[in-house]
Formats: sequence, C-alpha cells, structure tokens
Amino acid sequence: MNDSKIKAPRGTFDVLGEQASARTALEARARAILEGAGYERIETPTFEATELFARGVGESTDIVRKEMFTFEDGAGRSLTLRPEGTAPVCRAYVEHGMHKRRQPVKLWYLSSFFRHERAQAGRYRQFWQVGAEALGSDDPAVDAESITLLATLLGEMGVRDLRLRLSSLGGPESRGEYRERLQVHLRAHEQSLSEDVRDRIELNPLRAFDSDHPGTRTVMESAPRLLEHLSDEDAAHFEEVRRLLDATGVPHEVDSTLVRGLDYYTRTVFEFTSDALGAQSGVGGGGRYDRLVERLGGPATPGIGWAAGIERILLAGDGSETEGAATKGGGQPVTAGLVELFVALEDQGPDARAAAFALVTEARSAGLTAQMDLGGRSLKGQLGHANALGARFVAIVGETETVLRDMQTRVQQPLATDSVVHAVLRGQHDL
Ligand code: HAM
Repeated sequence: MNDSKIKAPRGTFDVLGEQASARTALEARARAILEGAGYERIETPTFEATELFARGVGESTDIVRKEMFTFEDGAGRSLTLRPEGTAPVCRAYVEHGMHKRRQPVKLWYLSSFFRHERAQAGRYRQFWQVGAEALGSDDPAVDAESITLLATLLGEMGVRDLRLRLSSLGGPESRGEYRERLQVHLRAHEQSLSEDVRDRIELNPLRAFDSDHPGTRTVMESAPRLLEHLSDEDAAHFEEVRRLLDATGVPHEVDSTLVRGLDYYTRTVFEFTSDALGAQSGVGGGGRYDRLVERLGGPATPGIGWAAGIERILLAGDGSETEGAATKGGGQPVTAGLVELFVALEDQGPDARAAAFALVTEARSAGLTAQMDLGGRSLKGQLGHANALGARFVAIVGETETVLRDMQTRVQQPLATDSVVHAVLRGQHDL
C-alpha cells in the first residue's frame, strides 16, 4: 500500500486559525458596506457550462485560452470551475428575469474562484473574491458609487499604499475604430514586439499594453490611446464619473494604458493597486460591461462592478480591521432593508447630483446606511422608492437648500446640505 503523505494541490491552501478570523472580519465589513448600500447577496454554482465563460469572458483572453479548469460530466457536457464571477451573475440575472425588478439590481458575492496560473505569493489556483455588480443602469453615478464602495472597503481593511487607476474603453463603435488604428501601429513595429503580442495583433491588440517585454513597452509608448478617441457621449460619461469621484474625495489617476484582462468591458475601467503587494499589485478591479447580458442571451442591460482578491486584501492590509472587528460591531450584519437615510433629488441637474452623491458617501462614512436613487426617476418616483425601502429619513437635495423629512413623524426642516448627516444622527439619538 502506498502510504506517502498527500499534500494540497499546487496553488491551493488551507485556511486555519488567525487567517480564518481575518477572513470572517473582512466578510463582515464587506457585508456591512455593501448591504448598507442596497446590495443583496448572491451565490452562484462553483461550476458552470464552459460556454458561459467562452462567450462572456472572451475567447481571446488568457483566462479562457489557458487558465480554466475544464472537465466533462458523465453525459459529455463541458463544465468549468468558475474563473470569475461577473458572467455567472449576469447569467443568473437573465435566468431569474431580474430585468423585471427595479433597476439597477445590485448583487454582491464572496466566493472562491479557480484559475490555472503560475502559483506564487498573492497568486493562487483557488482564491477568493468579494465582488459587487449593479445591473440595469448606465448612469455614471452608479460607476462612481461602485468605485467608492470598493475604496471604502479597502480603506477600512487598512490596505497600504493604495492607488486607483481609471480609464474608459468607450463603446463598441469607438473601440472598433481604435482597434484598427492600434493594429496598424503594431504591424508597423512587428519586429520589436514579443511573440505573444505579435500572435495576438488580430485577436486582442489591446493586451499589448499589459506586456512586460521591453521591446513591446517601447512600441506602446508611442501607440495611439483609446482615451483620446472616445465618442462625445463616452467622453461625457467618463468626465461625469470623474466629477462624482472628486465630489466624494476619492483620489484617482487617469491611466490611458489600463485595459484589463477580460473582454466584456465597455466605458469605465478601474483598478486598485497596492505597492505593498510587490509583483501581484492588483488588489481589486472592475468596470462597465454594457453588452454582456445581451451577449448571454438576455435583454440589452448595462452593468458595472468589481471584484477584489481576499488574500491580496489581507496581505496588503495592516491587520487593524481584524483586531477592531469585535469592538466595532464588524460581526453584525446590517439588517436587510434598513435604510436610515435616503437622498432624493429635486431635479437632476449636475450640481445637485454631485451634492447628493457626496451626501450619501458622507452618511456612509458616518456609519449610516444610506441610499440614493440611481435610476434618474422623478422626485415622486424617488420618494416612492424611499417608502418601499422603509427609509427612516429622506433628504431632498435642491438647488439652494436641502429639506430633511422624518418619515415617522412627517416633520420637515430645511437645512444646509452639510448639516444633514449631523441632524440624522441627532434625530436617531432622540428616538
Ligand atoms: P480580475 O481583475 O480578473 O477581475 O480579478 C479581480 C481580483 O481578483 C484581482 O484584482 C485580484 O485581487 C484577484 N485575483 C485574480 N486572480 C487571482 C489569483 N490567481 N490569485 C489571487 N487573487 C487573484 C475579475 O475577476 C472581474 N470579474 C471583476 C469584475 C467584476 N469586473 C466587473 N465586475
């Protein structure tokens, strides 16, 4: 009998002791932040039809070309251990007819994923991600909210030396034209490129921006940039995302070389990196995928989201959250549906929107569960939404002042927008 020791497969690990507690604390923070912002938990199966990722993530990506754990079931169907969560969430959105619900539908997950990559510190073959997806709105405020929530989570987990890079990939039309322009540039310098990049000039020329190969890097320095070739609509969308991030004080750098490794992205893309991580510096990233639901057989539905690696957050974090979890109430789930402050807009003017967005973010930083309507509805529609959520207070942000309404007593008072959070906290205290 062979009785040699059996070890865990390469690139996998056991979660033990302190690591298990750190993960529990991280999950509790993620849940508090995301459920407080109206995201609902979703769990999809560990494996899916291979076709989902081939079509969703894209045939030309590294993930689909060489990193999937694929096997056949007894009946000859091809199945794949999920390498990422966005395509499965979109599949579930279509399968459960979620387009009939109030949009955007906001979903979050914390699950394990599988990629056959070269294992090293911070890069595993089974790893965990926390992710958030908002489907059904192309409003730039949804982009800004999504990015801000990840910034908050990483900040609260004490991730060190954090940077946020941001770009826009435009819509399919501007991207198609740009692709051709880039292919011309790459072909003109073909002999200086790495073999891998040369092989992908036809299939996926944008990935050349991710190459470490010195010759390729030199060629890419003079390559045309997509950000300079956006359509007017895409450029305006990107400007608005940046303006809203500025309004909430989330620092970011525009990086026109950011392309991301998955094919479904349109418009906004972003990545948080931490220098504390060394080579695997990506802590979390995401972007818009306005065509993905359609590509999976659903109705045309815009979407945006992100995922962040649990192991990388813990590696780059300063551990403060784990210690604080017990005292800060980090283990307590937010009561589903409890909204302490709902921020409504009297009109959809850009300044009022930025003020409302900043107010929601400020309220969340103060520990309140706060939401705003991201569907561009009328004031009446927004108040209906606030009622349906059972909001305790509603702030109606106008051009010159904000009116705070106590939904229990029906008492209203006009206030300066920057004293709303204080008034809500005081109001709660007086109950
Ligand atoms: P991704 O950039 O491939 O995006 O992965 C997101 C995060 O997962 C990375 O930033 C990293 O922290 C972690 N990660 C990825 N691969 C590994 C690995 N082999 N070992 C450890 N950690 C890893 C996505 O997966 C998209 N689904 C994100 C998204 C959501 N886009 C829109 N919605």
